[in-house]
Amino acid sequence: MTSSFQFFTFPLCILLILHSSTTSTTLSQPTATAPPPTGPTNITKILEKASQYTVLLRLFRMTQLGDQINTQLNNSDQGITLFAPTDNAFSALKPGLLNSLSDQQKVELVQFHVVPMFLSTSQFQTVSNPLRTQAGDTTPYTFPLNITTNGNQVNISTGVVNATVANSIYTDGSLAVYQVDTVLLPMRMFGPPAPAPVPVPAKKSKKTNAGDDSPAADDGRVSADVSSGVGLNQNLLGFIVGPAVIVMSCL
Ligand SMILES: *[C@@H]1O[C@H](CO)[C@@H](O)[C@H](O)[C@H]1NC(C)=O
Ligand SMILES: *[C@@H]1O[C@H](CO)[C@@H](O)[C@H](O)[C@H]1NC(C)=O
Ligand SMILES: *[C@@H]1O[C@H](CO)[C@@H](O)[C@H](O)[C@H]1NC(C)=O
Ligand SMILES: *[C@@H]1O[C@H](CO)[C@@H](O)[C@H](O)[C@H]1NC(C)=O
Ligand SMILES: *[C@@H]1O[C@H](CO)[C@@H](O)[C@H](O)[C@H]1NC(C)=O
Repeated sequence: MTSSFQFFTFPLCILLILHSSTTSTTLSQPTATAPPPTGPTNITKILEKASQYTVLLRLFRMTQLGDQINTQLNNSDQGITLFAPTDNAFSALKPGLLNSLSDQQKVELVQFHVVPMFLSTSQFQTVSNPLRTQAGDTTPYTFPLNITTNGNQVNISTGVVNATVANSIYTDGSLAVYQVDTVLLPMRMFGPPAPAPVPVPAKKSKKTNAGDDSPAADDGRVSADVSSGVGLNQNLLGFIVGPAVIVMSCL
């Protein structure tokens, strides 16, 4: 009799399915709220394992931004995206460039490589430019960073350098680390200076005020003679760098 046979097997099937699904659940997730068994994400560990990031790791240590990223990853659900320049990328910078940066500039340079949100490769196609980095301001002459994509290719432009995202080193839905072969130099430090503001008619010059520290006088600009940057040199030609006029090499 077919009908009684079906009646008998149906609950048995359910039982088997229930049994197998509870078994697999307990195997893959010991408890629902426990953190992953590997412990909190450690950006230092990830970069050490990937090798070729010793300069970036040194900057992370110096600026303590490595610890900050780990804390942020643990405390926010936005996630983090890091553009990680290789040691070769740092080697391509003008010799002594990193050492010429102040502590604050080093912090800003590293922050410029950190986006305070998780971006998968496909999400690059829909980000709106300029993308906000941890360095903050994205207006021209500060820290704008633009992403352009074409299929799988992802390009970054800072207004000073162009870079291509070479490789995904790490991704877990919360942290994404991408290899870049160019150090992302922000406009604020390495680009042309912002055009001088329209002069104010009423000139109250030479007032010996204790706090009269003209921001235009020392805006921390650094000359960035990137070896491959022919266009860059042309861009920077003759701009005022700190107190001195530096005429960039190569014409
Ligand atoms: C992250 O990893 C580095 C090196 O692997 C280690 O020195 C550091 O203590 C770790 N940090 C945390 C918060 O576990
Ligand atoms: C991660 O956050 C939890 C609570 O949000 C805290 O108890 C824990 O100490 C944090 N771990 C690290 C490594 O910061
Ligand atoms: C990315 O840059 C490369 C060379 O720098 C260029 O050939 C390519 O067209 C760029 N792609 C996009 C999507 O901007
Ligand atoms: C970045 O994109 C914005 C908006 O499209 C544009 O106005 C700006 O000029 C771009 N900046 C750079 C450095 O490419
Ligand atoms: C970056 O790319 C843009 C457009 O692709 C180009 O106009 C600009 O000169 C490039 N900048 C540098 C520094 O190579």
